[in-house]
Amino acid sequence: MAFHIDEIADPKLYGDQDRLQSFYAWLRTKHPVARAEPEGCRPFWVVSRHADIREIERQPDIFNAGPRNTLMPEVVEQANIQFFGIEAGIQSLVMIDGERHQELRGLTQSYFLPKNIRRLEGLIGDLARQFVARFEGLGGRCDFGSDIAFWYPLRVAMTILGIDEADEARMLQLTHELFGSSDPAIIRSGMTQAEHLVAVHHDYVAFFDEITKDRQAKPREDVATLIANGRPGDRDMTPAERMGYYIIVATAGHDTTAASIAGGLKALIDHPDQMERLRADRSLLKPFANEAIRWTAPVKHFFRNVTEDYEARGTRFAKGDHVMLSYGAATRDEDAFAEADRFKLDRSVNNHLAFGYGPHMCLGQFLAKLEIEAFFDAMLDKLGSVALDGPTLYTETPFVSGIKSLPIRYALQGSRPGQES
Ligand code: HEM
Repeated sequence: MAFHIDEIADPKLYGDQDRLQSFYAWLRTKHPVARAEPEGCRPFWVVSRHADIREIERQPDIFNAGPRNTLMPEVVEQANIQFFGIEAGIQSLVMIDGERHQELRGLTQSYFLPKNIRRLEGLIGDLARQFVARFEGLGGRCDFGSDIAFWYPLRVAMTILGIDEADEARMLQLTHELFGSSDPAIIRSGMTQAEHLVAVHHDYVAFFDEITKDRQAKPREDVATLIANGRPGDRDMTPAERMGYYIIVATAGHDTTAASIAGGLKALIDHPDQMERLRADRSLLKPFANEAIRWTAPVKHFFRNVTEDYEARGTRFAKGDHVMLSYGAATRDEDAFAEADRFKLDRSVNNHLAFGYGPHMCLGQFLAKLEIEAFFDAMLDKLGSVALDGPTLYTETPFVSGIKSLPIRYALQGSRPGQES
C-alpha cells in the first residue's frame, strides 16, 4: 500500500481498520517523527513510537497540553475562537497545564482512585448483568454496538456523574456528535462541521447550566455536585472550566470504554481459542481488559504544544510547533510489545499508551478496566456462542474512534444459535 503522511487527517482512514494499521506500521518504521501539512489544518509533527511519546509526556513544561489539543480543521478552530474564545472550543482538563491542571484534577481524583473504584464493584457488576440480560430479548441477533455496548458504559458514567436515565439518550447523541464531527453520517443536516460543533457546544451548555443550578441548590453524592460546588485551589471555577469538566466526565469515559468492549468482543470472535480460554479461566479477565484497550486504542491522539526548542529522534522541534502523539500507532509498537500485532489476552507486560502517560494520564483508567472485566464476566456466563453477522463498521474520525456497528448472532448458554426468539 502507498501512503502519504497527510492521510493522518483523513477521517476515511479511520473507517478502514486494515489500512489504518498498515498506515501506523508505515509511520513507525519509516517516519517515526514526521511533518504533516494536511490541507485545511495547521501543520504539525506526528510522533508514533512508544519510547518517543513517553519521552515527550515526561516533560510537560516543554510540551504543553494546550492550547492546541486535538486535530481540527483550521476553520473549526477559528469558529471556536469566535464563539468560545479558545481554539479547542472546550476548556477541559486534558488541555489545561501546570498548577491549575493539578488543582482541577485534584477535585475528582480521589473519586477515581482504585480504592474508591473498588467500592463501585457491586454497582458495576449489577449494571453489567443488567445490560448483558438484553441479549435475552434480542432474538439471537443484534448490533452489539447500538443495542448493548454503547449503553452500558454510558449508564456507568451517568450514574457517577448523577445524570437521570431519561437524559442518557441525549447525552449519547451529544458525545457521538462531538467526537464524530468529521463523520458525514453524524454531522447535523445542513450544517458545516464548524456550525455543527458550535451547536453541539451550545446544547451542552444549556444542559449543564441546569445541572449546576440544581446541584448548587440541592447537593447530592455525585460528581456533578463536586463540579457544581467545587473550588479547586480555593478559587471559583470559571464557567468555561466548569463546563469543560462536566463535558470531559460525560464524554471521555463512555465512548472510549464502549469502543474497547465492542473491539474486545470482535477480537474474541476472531480468536475463538482465546474466547474459550477466557470462559474457562476468569482470572484472565484483568489482562484481557487491558489488552482489549491496547488493541482498540480508542483515543487515537492528543496534541502537545512546544514551548522551547527540543530534539527528538534526530528531529528538531521549534518553540511554537505542535506535536501529535499518535497513541493509536504506539500501542502496536514492536519495540514495546512482543508480537505487537497479535491480540494476546494473557499479555503480561502491557504498559500501552491508550490511556496516555504523564500528568494527564487517564483519570478513569481503573474504572474503565473494571467495567470491561465485569461486562465480559457476565457475558461469558450468559452466551454459549457468538459469531459475526455482517460487516463491522468504524467511525470515520481521527480523534476518538472505534466500532460503530458490530452485527452479531449468538446463542444463550444451553441453546443453539437463533433459538432465543
Ligand atoms: C477505554 C477507556 C478509556 C480510554 C482509552 C481513555 C483514554 C484517555 C486518554 C488517552 C486521556 C489523555 C491522556 C493524556 O493526555 O496523556 C484520557 C484522559 C482522561 N480520561 Fe480517559 N479514557 C478511558 C476511559 C475513561 C473513563 C471511564 C473516564 C471517567 C469517567 C475517563 C476520564 C478521563 C479524564 C477526566 C481525563 C483527563 C485527565 C487529565 O487531563 O488530567 N476516561 N483518557
